[in-house]
Formats: sequence, structure tokens, C-alpha cells
Amino acid sequence: MRLTAPRGREMAARWVLLGLLAACVTEAAKKDMLNVCMDAKHHKTKPGPEGELHNQCTPWKDNACCTANTSMEAHKDQSYLYSFNWNHCGGMKDKCKRHFIQDTCFYECSPNLGPWIVQTDTSWRRERIMDVPLCKEDCDQWWNDCQDSFTCKENWHKGWNWTTGSNQCPRGSECRPFKTVFPQPADLCEKLWSRSYKYTTESQGSGRCMQMWFSNTEVNPNVAVAEYYARLAGAPMPGPGAWLFLLAPALLALL
Ligand SMILES: *[C@@H]1O[C@H](CO)[C@@H](O)[C@H](O)[C@H]1NC(C)=O
Ligand SMILES: *[C@@H]1O[C@H](CO)[C@@H](O)[C@H](O)[C@H]1NC(C)=O
Repeated sequence: MRLTAPRGREMAARWVLLGLLAACVTEAAKKDMLNVCMDAKHHKTKPGPEGELHNQCTPWKDNACCTANTSMEAHKDQSYLYSFNWNHCGGMKDKCKRHFIQDTCFYECSPNLGPWIVQTDTSWRRERIMDVPLCKEDCDQWWNDCQDSFTCKENWHKGWNWTTGSNQCPRGSECRPFKTVFPQPADLCEKLWSRSYKYTTESQGSGRCMQMWFSNTEVNPNVAVAEYYARLAGAPMPGPGAWLFLLAPALLALL
């Protein structure tokens, strides 16, 4: 039994070891945030290549959380995905609808949403996204292109009348122009899906905001953005974690 205080060298070694273990844990936590699929209704369990992604979803073909089937359904009105009716206040204009299709592709296909995944307690999914910082252009253009379409609700997650199997405007609500329901771009992007997105003033390519839209010939710009926010969420990173595990037994031997 040792009643005296540990010697200086031993103390120091313990602190170093603790620090390294903490770094390993942080590194592992960061990895959990990167290149992952949320646990929701249609997502794959792990991201991977999908050669046959449809139309607007093709930017994610190299690495996706959606299947080809999901990407095809994302382009349909009242698809089997959510039976959601975009045309609940008369036909939604195509230039507006393409943003909702892109939103569906981004939500279903992106493997870069890890830093914003939170637990949720609903019948149809265990995880959701919250406050994903959307690039200004993506939100502004969405809002602009929907100016001559109509809706009766601000929050499209809840409050619909589903008795017919797809969403209808609840009694007492009124179809109004998007601009009346969502006075500013931030109102649309943040309120529509109960804060899944956060409006930002960051621009595409800044590395500080997520892009719903990017070309299928460019490298997915959201990979770097997710890494940036994962690093912000954790402690400073000591680089690759592997060598720390190799070093730990050696340090333990010192004690
Ligand atoms: C996708 O899969 C669902 C369920 O298996 C099926 O009902 C649907 O027809 C498929 N859609 C396409 C476009 O293949
Ligand atoms: C829901 O829709 C059905 C069918 O259109 C209608 O009969 C019913 O009154 C509606 N209920 C509410 C609460 O809006």
C-alpha cells in the first residue's frame, strides 16, 4: 500500500496519459460525426457509392445515405417516402418545387449532416437534424423562386389533416402566398421543418455553410464544412488518433 503522494515523474505521466486518452475519445467522437447516416425513415445505415442516383440527387452519387429508389421517389409528388403533397394549395410552381426536391435529396442523401444530428422521439424516426447552417444563396434562391406559390402553413412538420392519406390544409387555415407566410428567407428555411436549418449570411464556397445545391462534377463541398464544425464541437485535435493508442501501453508501463 502506498500512502505517500506519487512521485513527480509518475504524476506527470498520469496527466499525459489522461490527456492522450481524452484526445482519443474526442477523436473517436469526431469520427462519429463525419461520414454518417442518420437513423431515420429511409436512410441507409452507412454511406457508400450509389451509381444510379436520379436527376437532382446525382451530386451525392460518390457517397450517399440514400438509395437509387429514394432518389427517384424524391422527385415525385406524394411519393411513397412521406406521402407529402407539395400541391396542398394548388399546383406548386416547378421553379419552387425543384428546391423542395433538392431539400429532400440533401436530407436523404447527405453523409455530412453528422454535426447536427440530434435524438428525437417520434414514431417514424429516431434521429433528426437541427440548425444545419445553410448557405445564404441556397435559402435566398429557394425563397425567391417560391414567391408565386401558395401554402397554408408555416411549419410543415405538424398540424396537417392526414385523413385522406396525404396532407391537406387543416380547417380554419387559409392558402396564402409564400411571401405572406414566410416574410423573409430565414422564415422559410428555419420554420418550415421546425429548425432543421439555420439561415446564415455565409456564402457557398466559404467552407462555413452547407450547400443543398452543388454540381455533380465537383467534390462535395459539405465534407469540409462538416469537418470544420465537428472540430469546433470538440477539443483541439492532436492529429490522427491511431498512434495515441500505440503509445498508451508504453505510458502505462511508466506508472
Ligand atoms: C421504391 O420502393 C418502394 C418500396 O419497395 C416501392 O413501392 C416503389 O415503387 C419504388 N419506387 C421506384 C421508383 O422504384
Ligand atoms: C380533414 O379532412 C377531411 C376530408 O377532407 C374533412 O372531412 C375533415 O373535416 C377535416 N378535418 C379537419 C380537422 O380539418
